[in-house]
Amino acid sequence: MDINREINSKAAEIEEIIKGYLPKEEGYQKTVLEAMNYSILAGGKRLRPMLMQETYRLFGGKGKIVEPFMAAMEMIHTYSLVHDDLPAMDNDEYRRGRKTTHVVYGEGMAVLAGDGLLNYAFETAMRAFDSCEVDGIKVADRYAAVGKALQVLAKKAGIYGMIGGQTADIEAEDSKEPLTTEQLLFIHEHKTAALIQASMMIGAILAGAGEKAVEDMEKCAYNIGIAFQIQDDILDVIGDEQVLGKPVGSDEKNSKQTYVTIHGMEKAKEDVAKLSKEATAIIESVGGDGEFLKALILQLIHREK
Ligand code: IPE
Ligand code: IPE
Ligand code: MG
Ligand code: MG
Ligand code: MG
Repeated sequence: MDINREINSKAAEIEEIIKGYLPKEEGYQKTVLEAMNYSILAGGKRLRPMLMQETYRLFGGKGKIVEPFMAAMEMIHTYSLVHDDLPAMDNDEYRRGRKTTHVVYGEGMAVLAGDGLLNYAFETAMRAFDSCEVDGIKVADRYAAVGKALQVLAKKAGIYGMIGGQTADIEAEDSKEPLTTEQLLFIHEHKTAALIQASMMIGAILAGAGEKAVEDMEKCAYNIGIAFQIQDDILDVIGDEQVLGKPVGSDEKNSKQTYVTIHGMEKAKEDVAKLSKEATAIIESVGGDGEFLKALILQLIHREK
């Protein structure tokens, strides 16, 4: 099958999994539930749950224990976007082809929808404990794996992960000095690579892979994540708003120094390709059937959204 069709068909399956974990829009908190579902159901590539599921399969994972974590990861990612778009942060009004959550529901509700998604992500991920009593790896090992996966999820989403990266990103906007390569890599690693790392690490952990394999996935996803954010910076300059589903020129509007402003467009493009190839080499080195995963990673070099 053509790789793009394969990606779309997997994304559609993931969509159904995510939908199955969303809260019902009822009760006195109905508005926040609607705002949460509005943002998560707006679409999106579902890249992080896809990487999680494929890594789970790469290491021989077969059951459904990964599914609550896939949904949880997309909830955390979506919350990061809802907050990232707020007037106090990037101040963007268009996301995933729709008006942003704060434009539709107001800022207070968008803050709460983000908070709700973050908390509900952990409520959802913890449902994986309910799947521990099924076939596969030993039951005690499964409980341990879910615990370990939760630890990774919490850390990579938090102050030593995505939130830390967003902090440095926002502070760098006011910096009069040019960012050093080290600072820029800190921002990219934390704001973007961290959730991609968590996705692949959790896939490996839940499949029962050992420590070395989990470390390999952390390295692999570092490369994917840096390449992914460089490409995001590229698309912010040369992308098509209709295709992207979010504004172009957001970085310039916010005086952000990006990989493109610091290293230039040509080097940015070269590095996306180089980092992506390094990532596929790591997939190859662990063995197993990583054909789709490798094709997916290489496809991201040419992504237009
Ligand atoms: C956007 O992520 C935020 C970044 C980390 C660059 P995606 O490009 O994965 O956004 P969706 O999920 O497809 O909307
Ligand atoms: C944000 O990076 C990464 C997040 C953690 C949300 P950007 O601010 O460049 O993401 P977009 O371009 O708005 O999707
Ligand atoms: Mg931002
Ligand atoms: Mg933004
Ligand atoms: Mg961007």
